[in-house]
Amino acid sequence: MPYAHITGWGMAAPEGVMTNDDLAKIVDTNDQWIRERTGISERRIAGATDFTSTLAVEASIKALKVANVRPTDIDLIICSTSTPEYMFPATACLIQDQLGATKAGAFDLLAACTGFIYALNMGAQAIRSGSIKTALIIGSETLSRFVNWKDRNTCILFGDGAGAFVLQASERPGGVLSAVMHSDGSGGDLLTLPAGGSRFPATESTVHEGLHCIRMDGKEVFRFATRVMASATLEALDAAGLKVEDIKWIVPHQANIRIIEAAARGLKLPMERFVVNLDRYGNTSTASIPIAMVEAIEKGQIKEGEKLVMVGFGAGLTWGALAAEWTGPLPSKGHVRPEQYRRLGRVRSLVRRAIRFIEGLLYRREL
Ligand code: UT7
Repeated sequence: MPYAHITGWGMAAPEGVMTNDDLAKIVDTNDQWIRERTGISERRIAGATDFTSTLAVEASIKALKVANVRPTDIDLIICSTSTPEYMFPATACLIQDQLGATKAGAFDLLAACTGFIYALNMGAQAIRSGSIKTALIIGSETLSRFVNWKDRNTCILFGDGAGAFVLQASERPGGVLSAVMHSDGSGGDLLTLPAGGSRFPATESTVHEGLHCIRMDGKEVFRFATRVMASATLEALDAAGLKVEDIKWIVPHQANIRIIEAAARGLKLPMERFVVNLDRYGNTSTASIPIAMVEAIEKGQIKEGEKLVMVGFGAGLTWGALAAEWTGPLPSKGHVRPEQYRRLGRVRSLVRRAIRFIEGLLYRREL
C-alpha cells in the first residue's frame, strides 16, 4: 500500500495589513485587549484583486515548485474553504482552470477551521487506496468579506490567506500516519454565517439584519475548543501507535493563544513545542494550519524525519487531528516551473471558451 507524503508546501497572504490600532479606529476596542485576550497583533486583509482562488493559486504554485510537480500531473484538487467565491462552481474548479491542471478532479470541502485536516486526510486516503498518485490540498479564505466590521466580538479575530500542500504516493514509509475527524452539529448555531444559502436566500431583510456576516458565541466556542484540542491530538497519536514523547511539533489551528495554551496544559507540553504565528495573521480559518506549517518549515523549525500533529476545531462544530512524519520532496528529475503552466493555463482556458462559443453557434445552426 503506498504512503502519502507531503512533498510540497506554499502559502500566500494579501499585502494589506490591518493592525489592532487600525481596528480601534472602527470599533470600540484597543491593542492591549486584543493582544491579551487573543494573542493577535495584526492580520492580512484581501485587496480588491485578491480572491479565495487567486490566493490559493499563489500558494499552490509555490507548493508545486517545492515538490517539482507539474500542474498536469495533479490527479485531485481539494479546496477547503468556508469563503468560496460562489455557491457553485466550486472554487477548486477555478483553481484547476487557473493552474491548467488538465487531468485533475476538483471539489470544495467545507469543515470550517478543521477543513484542512479533513482535506489532507481525504487526499491521503485516496493515495493510500491506490486510486490516485498526486493530490493538491488547499486551505484558502477571504473571511474579511464576511466579517461584520461593527461587531468587536468577531472582527478582531479573522484574517485572509491560503496554504497548499502537494501529496504524493511513495513506497517509502512516512508521510500522513493517521487522522481523526469529529463533528457535533448540535453546536452548529455557535458559529455561523446564517444567510445566503438555500434556507435563507438573500433578501433585503437578510442584508439589513446583517445575516450575511459571521456570528459567533465566542465563549462557548472557546470552551469547546479547550476541551477538544488535547483529546483529538491524543486520539490521532494513538491511531498512529505514537506517544506524545514521540512527536516534535504540534501545529494547532491559530484561533486564540489562550486556546493553544490550554491545549499545551492538557498535553503537559511546553509552549515551545507548538507552532504559533497567529500574532501576525489572526485566525485564517482553514488556512491557518498550512500557513503556520509553511512558515515553520521555511524557518528551518520543522525538519526532515520529525513527527508532528496538526490539530484543529471550528464551526459545525467540527474538530480533528492528523499525525504525520515530515519527509520533504521526493527525488525527481528535471526542473518544473509551475508558473509557466499558469500562463499556459490562462491561454488554454481562453481557447476552450472560444471553442465552446463556436461549437454553440454551430450547434444552434444545426437545430
Ligand atoms: O476558528 C474558530 C473561531 N472562533 C474562536 O476561536 C473564538 C473562541 N473565543 C474566543 O477567542 C474568545 O471568546 C473571544 C476572543 C472571542 C472573546 O474573549 P473573552 O475572553 O471570551 O471575552 P468575553 O467575551 O468574555 O468579554 C470580556 C469583556 C466583555 O466586557 P464586560 O461584559 O466584561 O464588561 C466584552 O464586552 O470584554 C469585552 N470585549 C471587548 N473589549 C474590547 C469583547 N470584545 C472586546 C473587544 N475589545 N474586541
